[in-house]
Amino acid sequence: MFLQRRNRILRKGSAIRSLVAETTLTPNDFIVPLFIDEGINVKTEIASMPGYYRNSLDITVKEVRELRGMGLKSVLIFVKSKDELKDNTGKEAWNPDGLMQKSIKAIKNAVPEIVVMTDVALDPYSSYGHDGIVKDGEIVNDETVEALVKMSISHAMAGADIVAPSDMMDGRIGAIRKGLEENNFTRVGIMSYSAKYASCFYGPFRDALDSAPGFGDKKTYQMDYSNRIEAIKETLMDVEEGADIVMVKPALAYLDIIREVKNAVNIPVSAYNISGEYAMIKAAAKMGWLNEDKAILETLTAIKRAGADLIATYFAKDAVRLLSA
Ligand code: PBG
Repeated sequence: MFLQRRNRILRKGSAIRSLVAETTLTPNDFIVPLFIDEGINVKTEIASMPGYYRNSLDITVKEVRELRGMGLKSVLIFVKSKDELKDNTGKEAWNPDGLMQKSIKAIKNAVPEIVVMTDVALDPYSSYGHDGIVKDGEIVNDETVEALVKMSISHAMAGADIVAPSDMMDGRIGAIRKGLEENNFTRVGIMSYSAKYASCFYGPFRDALDSAPGFGDKKTYQMDYSNRIEAIKETLMDVEEGADIVMVKPALAYLDIIREVKNAVNIPVSAYNISGEYAMIKAAAKMGWLNEDKAILETLTAIKRAGADLIATYFAKDAVRLLSA
């Protein structure tokens, strides 16, 4: 058989395959989400996220040193707030001595080079488990935005490098940018969860922080998964309002959105390989139905190939280990 072109030539061995690989992962791609708990020497495995833990701050600081030693450059922090600190204003969120603020200081103090990103949303502090303030059964926008601005400023004051609003209220990026400017935090960035969908795949995360909504769902603020064009609208508005990095979330069922967003903006795009995506691989691997290591690398490569410049993932350490093997 005569063939003018034989595409398999470039696939014939692993060396040539690496030479022509279009997408390669590096430790610089990853953001490591961390769950922080009150107490000392507390390490709790999250039932629906086997192998992932909620740690007290002392253990977290050691963990961050280890991450840095592995070549990882950034962490995204979430705290579990005590029930007695939760209310409908979310005011614990901007307590200068709150667990989040203490954590930012301790981490920056111990590992100054690590880029500290912080989750900005009221759900861990809300007695209703919603990302905003509730009035007459509704999540009110403008008052929530005021709270998010206070929260962001308190994170900046504690030393956060980047605040990451994950709440999907309207106008919050512009308001946070203005708040940071007015308070002279001109070196603090904003990573906006700009296209965040109302997803069932957040389930395990809500177990981790005990932050499931007490009534209803999050569909009046997070996006409808039927929509694609809306993701571009949301993202372009956030860029306009001052986001430094935009994010698509979840990642795996939304690779098309990651690509569209990547093509639409000229700032870095991140994607969040979320808790449910982690849980699916862990569960299938435990059953012996998937090779976990291969599934991790294939998944993360696909998210990067789709257009993500940065990937928040619970698999960051595994990926670095696998990449250096
Ligand atoms: C809270 C928040 C959520 C996640 C990140 N920030 C959950 C939610 O919106 O209910 C999900 C992360 C994950 O599932 O890994 N605003």
